[in-house]
Amino acid sequence: MKLDIIAGARPNFMKIAPIISELKKVSDKIQYRLIHTGQHYDKKMSGSFFEQLGIPEPDVNLEVGSGTQAEQTARIMERYESLLLNRHSEQSDNAAWESSELETTFNGISDWVLVVGDVTSTMACSIAAKKLGVGVIHVEGGIRSNDITMPEEINRMVTDSITDIFYTTSEVANENLRKLGHDESKIRYVGNTMIDTLLKNMPRLQKPAAWNNLSLKDKKYFVMTLHRPANVDEEVQLKALIDEIVKGADGMPIVFPVHPRTAKMLKGIGIEADNLHMIEPLGYLEFNYLVKNSFAVITDSGGITEETTVMKVPCMTLRDNTERPETITIGTNELVGTNPDNIAPFMKKLHAGDWKVGETPYLWDGETSERIIEDLLGL
Ligand code: UD1
Repeated sequence: MKLDIIAGARPNFMKIAPIISELKKVSDKIQYRLIHTGQHYDKKMSGSFFEQLGIPEPDVNLEVGSGTQAEQTARIMERYESLLLNRHSEQSDNAAWESSELETTFNGISDWVLVVGDVTSTMACSIAAKKLGVGVIHVEGGIRSNDITMPEEINRMVTDSITDIFYTTSEVANENLRKLGHDESKIRYVGNTMIDTLLKNMPRLQKPAAWNNLSLKDKKYFVMTLHRPANVDEEVQLKALIDEIVKGADGMPIVFPVHPRTAKMLKGIGIEADNLHMIEPLGYLEFNYLVKNSFAVITDSGGITEETTVMKVPCMTLRDNTERPETITIGTNELVGTNPDNIAPFMKKLHAGDWKVGETPYLWDGETSERIIEDLLGL
């Protein structure tokens, strides 16, 4: 079997790492090439994850870079299609790829493309592949926020509509796919590859420099991340949210690794508070060290709500919906919403020690990638 693995943006890297490490064990049966679209390109957003998680250098980097949703989608589709049609060299000077053994093996066309998550790269590569008759495998298929204003929701809907094999993380996802009319035989509930990475790396988590610089103490600080357009693209909303959080933290330090999108906006606002510590985006091992030892996490990310659920850390989600409801019904997550006025009661509950403990969802056990590879071998 010839398989393309696609990774483009930060939340993809922890999902593909354990799949690649399992694929290496069956290299006689499945030949793969790793394709980085280049959607995220900074060392802090991409390179450091490859290093820390032991992901091999991509075989091809499509180097699409930043742009609007449509620009990124178009560039990824065009470049990935060229690769599949073996015309990649016309657009790129990727000499390493052109002379590689893999290039001869693949001769452009793959049997399957494996995409993960819901970023623009996921959708764009699925479309380009499917139109050339390449089968689409979607890891983390079937989840829905039912919020069509999120670019990720559109990416999920489009990708799933042309997916041949779904590897899912939850019973809710399975049910969503059934309701959409997908045949049961295409749906395979395997668990969560992001949690494979987390459990494997738990003993390797590293204290970030901020720990000493800010004199952080175990369970005595918040971790915050914000990057969703609904929260960060408007000054008034972003400022109101941060003001409420600072107030609600009651003097406890808030460590805030700032996403590039949010950083651009914050420059103009100039928020300052003694307990608010804005730092650069962290590596995987440092970020999860901070989360594991924190009092609570405040975020608008989806993936982080899965990690806090497994680490049993209280998590407040500043969104009006989630595509990962099991982090609320089973895990430690609560949906606070995007209205800044909602924050105070949740903060009160946290400080009073009234937060739920939570359980780990079924099959989030660190062995999901093994299950995926076993299944792939049967395709
Ligand atoms: C993307 C994903 C989102 C994911 C997030 C994690 C989509 C639609 N969204 O959003 O699901 O949660 O990644 O980070 O795919 N930038 C840099 N350096 C980089 C990458 C981006 O400075 O390495 C800047 C870009 O120039 C842009 C901003 O960050 O201004 C946003 O990047 P973009 O890739 O458009 O989407 P994200 O908001 O990161």
